[in-house]
Amino acid sequence: MMRKQFAAANWKMNLTYQQAAELLKAVISADLELNENRVVLFAVPFPYLELANGSVLQKKYYFTAAQNCSNKKSGAFTGEVSAEMLKSLNVSYCLVGHSERREHFGETNEMLSEKVMICLTYGMTPVFCCGEPLQIREQNTQNDFVKKQLNDSLFPLSAQQLLKVVIAYEPVWAIGTGKTATNEQAQEMHSYIRSVLEEHFGREVSQKISILYGGSVKANNAKELFACGDVDGGLVGGASLNASDFIEIVRALK
Ligand code: 13P
Repeated sequence: MMRKQFAAANWKMNLTYQQAAELLKAVISADLELNENRVVLFAVPFPYLELANGSVLQKKYYFTAAQNCSNKKSGAFTGEVSAEMLKSLNVSYCLVGHSERREHFGETNEMLSEKVMICLTYGMTPVFCCGEPLQIREQNTQNDFVKKQLNDSLFPLSAQQLLKVVIAYEPVWAIGTGKTATNEQAQEMHSYIRSVLEEHFGREVSQKISILYGGSVKANNAKELFACGDVDGGLVGGASLNASDFIEIVRALK
């Protein structure tokens, strides 16, 4: 069984509109061998979603993603963006629970469970981010830490709902540090995550869930990371801001 492989660009809070347009154009005009199971996502800032849609909606296998959405349906929440709004713009994916959101904006596992649910309600695929900070890795308790993130935010779902979720494992100590997890560390955690899903949702379901790796994925390490059996592509920050680096990373997909 071939799981869907993703090269996902997370631009975070970077680029002007003009730079964004140029980067999209460069990536989209590259000759990439994509198909149903080998796709590219652009997680762009909200004001650029329509711009990105303009480039990707006419192409197959490229999709836009939001970097966040509200856990509330609608109403008096100034500055927030709802899942329903995103869906009405034809945005098909949404990052949920990126470690920067957890750290700087106080997102809790419980809020993230609501965000996952609200994305699914509006037919968007949540890309649920999990991963441990450095001190947890140093205590070697990363498995329990990640298990709790999955337990609190994803276990409330039915198996049918989980099948519509993508997971991204991003060890916090590897994000933006240039200190990538080794292939062994990535494979070990990804296979652990899959075993946790298997325990709760069954083997068949767990085998179908794409688990992306994020944290200093670069053009020169993507191939070996993506070659790991349980790594189904990557969520890429810094290197996704450079067209030729990101193109190389897309080419490294299984
Ligand atoms: P870097 O690739 O810059 O380490 O960022 C990873 C990340 O947070 C992607 O969501």
